[in-house]
Amino acid sequence: MTGEPDLILGIETSCDDTSIALVDRAGTVVACETVSQYAIHAEYGGVYPELASRAHLQAILPTLSRVLASIEGDLGRIEAIGVTRGPGLIGSLLVGVNTAQALGLAWGKPVIGVNHLKGHLRSPDLGEKRVDYPAIMLLVSGGHTLLAHMTSHTEVEILGTTRDDSAGETYDKVARMLDLGMPGGPAVDMAAKRGEPVIDLPRPMMREGYEFSFSGLKSSVARLMERDPSVDRDDVAASFVAACLDVLEAKLIRALDEYAPKSLVVVGGVSASPQLRALVNRICEERGVRACLPPLKWATDNAAMIALAAWDNRERANGERLRADPNLVLTD
Ligand code: KG4
Ligand code: ZN
Repeated sequence: MTGEPDLILGIETSCDDTSIALVDRAGTVVACETVSQYAIHAEYGGVYPELASRAHLQAILPTLSRVLASIEGDLGRIEAIGVTRGPGLIGSLLVGVNTAQALGLAWGKPVIGVNHLKGHLRSPDLGEKRVDYPAIMLLVSGGHTLLAHMTSHTEVEILGTTRDDSAGETYDKVARMLDLGMPGGPAVDMAAKRGEPVIDLPRPMMREGYEFSFSGLKSSVARLMERDPSVDRDDVAASFVAACLDVLEAKLIRALDEYAPKSLVVVGGVSASPQLRALVNRICEERGVRACLPPLKWATDNAAMIALAAWDNRERANGERLRADPNLVLTD
């Protein structure tokens, strides 16, 4: 028996997660399987690109089989294939893009290239529609820190980005300095919960505009650890999180005051941080703005958000050969 085509098969391999999902036009996630590579990269203290693409190659077909099993292999239900084409690591992106193209040819389905950052933007609408426009959107991931004003889910005006490191990268580097292991973000969150924010750290560019800078904060933590290796690491983590969140809060409040949006959308891996989620909920409650965070399991990289973003471009899929682009920007 074959069903009506009602699902997009999403494929995400831009960095170190191999993820495949089936999602309908309304954002209902029928299946999503993600294989993480943390264990492979842990000993290098960061993502090792060649090992990442090899691990994607090994994981992608078994992951696909598990996802297809959830619809009993009924390919008739698949309307199209959506795949991340950038930004990300070129070797990792190519595994997803080539797999999507091979499946498109074999199954006779259109293949839609998706901007990974637009996938994150759509993540709060997975499961149920949450975002009301206009919205202020903060993307805080491993690769990006970006504040934008959005008048619809596709109309984005960028207000500011980071001049140096991203927020997620800074969490990861601080985790390494404190020997907290990988994945860095959740490890820093946990240490911060145990500690007290008693150490004074800088809050770079807090009082200026919408741009971010995190490298000064990162170097301050490094200098602190050099000066006094016996310092309480939980207190360092708590002080780092407090500094980071103060900067994010100042920028968010400035943007909410200037644009008076209906929603505040906070997405990307760092939006999994319980401290950041609490902050977003608090400032939204105080201002009567709707807080739109992705459900926790869709905060970090996943193919469900890629499939939902692919639905936005469904009508524009034209069967052209897709090109992976490691340097794609949000407005591409
Ligand atoms: O969005 P994402 O999965 O990948 C990119 O597109 O970059 O974001 C990964 C980043 C990492 O830097 C990771 O440390 C951070 O998100 N992250 C967190 C948490 N979970 C992941 N940061 C703070 N708290 C977390 N719970
Ligand atoms: Zn991401």
